[in-house]
Amino acid sequence: DLSNSKGYLECDDHLRKIEGGPANRLYYLATAPEFFPIAITYLGENDMTVEEEGFRRVIIEKPYGRDLSSALELTKTVHKHLSEKQIYRIDHYLAKETVQNILVFRFGNTIFEPIWNRNYIDHVQITAAEKVDVGHRGGYYDQSGVLRDMFQNHLLQLLSLVAMEAPASFDADALRNEKVKALSAVRLLSPEEVLDHLVVGQYEGYLDIPEVEDGSRTPTYAALSLYLDNWRWQGVPFYLRSGKGLKEKMTEIVIGFKSPPHVMFPLQVGEQIHPNVISMCIQPDEGIHLRFEAKVPDTQADMRSVDMDFHYKESFGEVMIPEAYERLLMNAINGDAALFTRADGIEAAWRIVDPLLQVCESGRIPTAKYKKGSWGPVEADELMAREGRAWQFGCMHS
Ligand code: BG6
Repeated sequence: DLSNSKGYLECDDHLRKIEGGPANRLYYLATAPEFFPIAITYLGENDMTVEEEGFRRVIIEKPYGRDLSSALELTKTVHKHLSEKQIYRIDHYLAKETVQNILVFRFGNTIFEPIWNRNYIDHVQITAAEKVDVGHRGGYYDQSGVLRDMFQNHLLQLLSLVAMEAPASFDADALRNEKVKALSAVRLLSPEEVLDHLVVGQYEGYLDIPEVEDGSRTPTYAALSLYLDNWRWQGVPFYLRSGKGLKEKMTEIVIGFKSPPHVMFPLQVGEQIHPNVISMCIQPDEGIHLRFEAKVPDTQADMRSVDMDFHYKESFGEVMIPEAYERLLMNAINGDAALFTRADGIEAAWRIVDPLLQVCESGRIPTAKYKKGSWGPVEADELMAREGRAWQFGCMHS
């Protein structure tokens, strides 16, 4: 019983018997979120977090708070009983091999970084689509919705990796400092602006799930446009979307480049040059695609987009890639916090998401309906079309 302090002492005794002497301990709080503060408090009060005989580390599952104020409150409790270096906050997206590769792609090569800015990039799209619906997780999901379940953590973590400056080293704090700076540069939206930048949707049939409240407006889909106010990204929109019950499961990041400044080729009426695109395919098509224009053979200068691609399986063979959770548990055992989020990073993300939640929960924004097996509500396409752009599938349909 997590809410009974005595139980922790019994657990401690039990562990001591198994350990038979000094030992390291990693407590993994894979519990319902309401137990995080209680468990940390009792572990602390029963001296189970004292690092005299070995390390005492705590992994905290998501969700870390349900808004900014509850996240700040949780951090207060955590820091009362543990030092920051004992804490490992999970976001399993950070441990996906393809997500870790974003840093290697950007900072382990010289040819991409010089063009990774507002001078060459027109916009960025980040999509995390899921085919599964809410299923029997209605009780949890109806209280969370897609903004808490996917945007506050996974999508904003992906954004921070795409947008951050190069850290000086691979050290956990050097990395996390740069990620926090990127998230802190995201322009916070006023309620009026939220109405222009956010589309929320709910798939048809969601309300039939038994644990879902009658008439619930909880979004199972959202599309959002954001801007970062800094030198690198000024004026470049970042479009984020995620949803359940969609056509396919796929996560990808599309970097859309600007069009050439001058077209010297004779084009047909209405024809235009397709701008270059780099697609970082997170899952299931793990790899990277680069789209560029090529001359169609035996024509004067007809052009067609072609695709240059890298795939993990082709380049590295069928090696066993550890599951994100395997990687995370191993890293926590080894004391490497680089793939875990720090409290200030989580708070910066809540600062971005809080105004969106407030507008949604006040009922000011309509919840659009969409069919299961579609790509979400048409309103999300309109959000892009208003700015002369469209959602792209750089990995799947190239
Ligand atoms: C979890 C969410 O954090 O991520 C789930 O709570 C979601 O709702 C899952 O399905 C998606 O993870 P992945 O690795 O399958 O993309």
